[in-house]
Amino acid sequence: MIRFESISKTWPDGTRALSNISLDVPKGQFCVILGPSGAGKSTLLRAVNGLTQPTQGSVAIDGTVLTPATERALRKRVAMIHQHFNLTNRMSVAGNVLAGLLPVVSTVRALLGWFKPEHRAKACRLLGHVGLSPEHLQRRAGDLSGGQQQRVGVARAFMNDPEVVLADEPVASLDPKISRDILALIRDAAKERNATVLCSLHQVDLAREFADRLVGMRDGRVVFDGIPAEFTDARVEALYHGVRWEDAPKADKQPGMPALEVAIA
Ligand SMILES: Nc1ncnc2c1ncn2[C@@H]1O[C@H](COP(=O)(O)OP(=O)(O)OP(=O)(O)O)[C@@H](O)[C@H]1O
Ligand SMILES: [Mg+2]
Repeated sequence: MIRFESISKTWPDGTRALSNISLDVPKGQFCVILGPSGAGKSTLLRAVNGLTQPTQGSVAIDGTVLTPATERALRKRVAMIHQHFNLTNRMSVAGNVLAGLLPVVSTVRALLGWFKPEHRAKACRLLGHVGLSPEHLQRRAGDLSGGQQQRVGVARAFMNDPEVVLADEPVASLDPKISRDILALIRDAAKERNATVLCSLHQVDLAREFADRLVGMRDGRVVFDGIPAEFTDARVEALYHGVRWEDAPKADKQPGMPALEVAIA
């Protein structure tokens, strides 16, 4: 389980990206974070693997709180899938998937390509699962299409059997058909291993289709938390087009114009 306990993040320039968020994401759950640009989705995800340090509060995985002392060990249990794939373009597809072992294999070994035969076999197996054929193995990653590159990104993420997968807009630059395929791959691979997925998305239809749970964020706060069936069109409208959080009047003072949290709670 991932536990966010009262976490806040204020950037040095004063931008408040997260405001007192408390959230438990149970093991095996596919939890999708939705919200307009700047809502704090990436900041929340990046707090789980230490790429962002909260200014207040804590993040824990299965009871181990992320601290400088535990970060290295926790990172081995967390994988990330990126919007822009983050592959090493000049390296082969196989090399990129094997790079998923970097948290547990020495950099020297990785640079020299010294991977155990069982690791190589696993990389091939994973590439098969994400729909790439053996002929792709030695191709330069940068030469693949966007959809193929993200398949490599998914295979890499599962190389180290992660307990937590962070997917930050994993299908933002892909067409709708490929996006659905990629999300299905992430969901199925995670369910098979009972891994927890925290995934930010901009596509509401895909979020409704794939999520076990939806969390809506606005201005660094959680303003919706429920199952997809509860995320009605009115709530979508309020999340994306409602008044700005800071401008929202108090609900009980102006009944005609409820505060955002009331509008979509
Ligand atoms: N390194 C940084 N320094 C200062 N402000 C930052 C930094 N990174 C993010 N922010 C600010 O923090 C807030 C939340 O950003 P974040 O990237 O988490 O939003 P997001 O919901 O992921 O948006 P998007 O949908 O556009 O990816 C924004 O106001 C953003 O400008
Ligand atoms: Mg983002």
